[in-house]
Amino acid sequence: MTAQESRPTKTCFELLSRGRFVPVKILVVGSGGREHALAWKLKQSAAVDRIFCAPGNAGTAEIGENVDIKATDFSALTRFTRENRIGLTVIGPDDPLAAGIVDIFQEEGLRVFGPTKSAARLESSKIFAKELMRAKRIPTARAAIFEKQEAAFAFLKESHFPIVIKADGLALGKGVIVARNIQEGQVAVEAMMSERRFGEAGRRLLIEECLAGSECSLHALVDGKHFRMLASARDHKRAFDGDTGPNTGGMGAFSPANNFGDELSGQFDREVMQPLLDGLREGGVTYRGLLFPGLMITADGPRVLEFNCRFGDPETQAILPRLKSDLLPLLEAAIDGTLDGVTIEWDAQPAVTVVMASGGYPEKYEVGKPISGLETAASEEVQIFHAGTRRENGAIVTSGGRVLAVTALGETVAAARTCAYEAVSKIHFEGCHYRRDIAQSALSVNLGGH
Ligand code: AMP
Ligand code: GLY
Repeated sequence: MTAQESRPTKTCFELLSRGRFVPVKILVVGSGGREHALAWKLKQSAAVDRIFCAPGNAGTAEIGENVDIKATDFSALTRFTRENRIGLTVIGPDDPLAAGIVDIFQEEGLRVFGPTKSAARLESSKIFAKELMRAKRIPTARAAIFEKQEAAFAFLKESHFPIVIKADGLALGKGVIVARNIQEGQVAVEAMMSERRFGEAGRRLLIEECLAGSECSLHALVDGKHFRMLASARDHKRAFDGDTGPNTGGMGAFSPANNFGDELSGQFDREVMQPLLDGLREGGVTYRGLLFPGLMITADGPRVLEFNCRFGDPETQAILPRLKSDLLPLLEAAIDGTLDGVTIEWDAQPAVTVVMASGGYPEKYEVGKPISGLETAASEEVQIFHAGTRRENGAIVTSGGRVLAVTALGETVAAARTCAYEAVSKIHFEGCHYRRDIAQSALSVNLGGH
């Protein structure tokens, strides 16, 4: 699928009728598979002129222009945006959002997609999120909040195991530990509070009940007042088949989720999204951007595990290829407060995304391995999103833990899986590992909803 072939002309007319058809330059901030997918989808918009990615990867360099600026170098990013007359900047990762990149862009009068620093606290402080959920009676795991190690230890003594220990702040996805017994609990608390393994993020922590069920990733576009749900998805967090091995950033995804139908969707809107937005507003916080609640679907209904304030990775790589509508007007509507007026169309075909990772990931791994087979693996149904890749002397080599996310659409989950794995089998780099069971749990289930 090339950008030209799938370019929707309707968008032109929609924008024209709103008197706003001026092709814009877009800057996508970040360098992962999520950012490649965002840039790829935005590039298909008739209203987009050029796409820049900062710092990007070898994949984003093929559809746009990479800019050698880190996602956390705000002054260089705003300078670039001003000097190049960027019409919209889309923030991919959580760290710049938590550090207030959106506030800085807004102060300088630059148009940006993402929540402000105070809104992004929903992700950057699990305690803030938990307190808000409590206040608005949003279903979530019961939890206790600790500022002192002695109190946390005393609580562990009275606890039933397993129990979940969470650092309050951002900890590169490593701040959640499921402790199977009191010893593991004490080690986790000490690592966070005394050793400060995650720095300030572990100064305070939550100890919460361990929920049983299946997880589901939801994405909502939010404009301050209204929200629009995107297609549902499921991630595969563990490194190895059968959900074994260490936690990773995500080894694969599929969309739609097989555990979230229309009934749960209505319940979720009423019990989570609406009270959450009300609660934020009552606290003087306007949330604009993408909100990604991670849910556990338990026997008692959906429970919120966490809120993320950005698109998921690798969920985005499974969701966006199913989005038939132009993404740009949707992001614009979230910024402008007009999401109530948009329609979002989805491809009914499911998508399966397989992540190809460096040998050793999520622990130590080597980089600089040449990648072959990328051209033969791509096809009409298959999209190869780059994550940890870079160009070196004309060749594409590995440069990170998660290297590629290979997405295929198909008539059925089985067909999409077969197609994705066929493409994966054509791609090689030394040490590559990937899970063989992505979306396997969805094979026997009739998918409902988006
Ligand atoms: P979080 O960063 O809060 O999403 O946690 C990361 C992962 O830890 C989740 O995706 C779940 O797999 C797991 N997790 C978090 N909280 C709980 C909980 N209360 N019960 C069971 N598993 C949890
Ligand atoms: N895939 C989970 C995340 O993006 O946080």
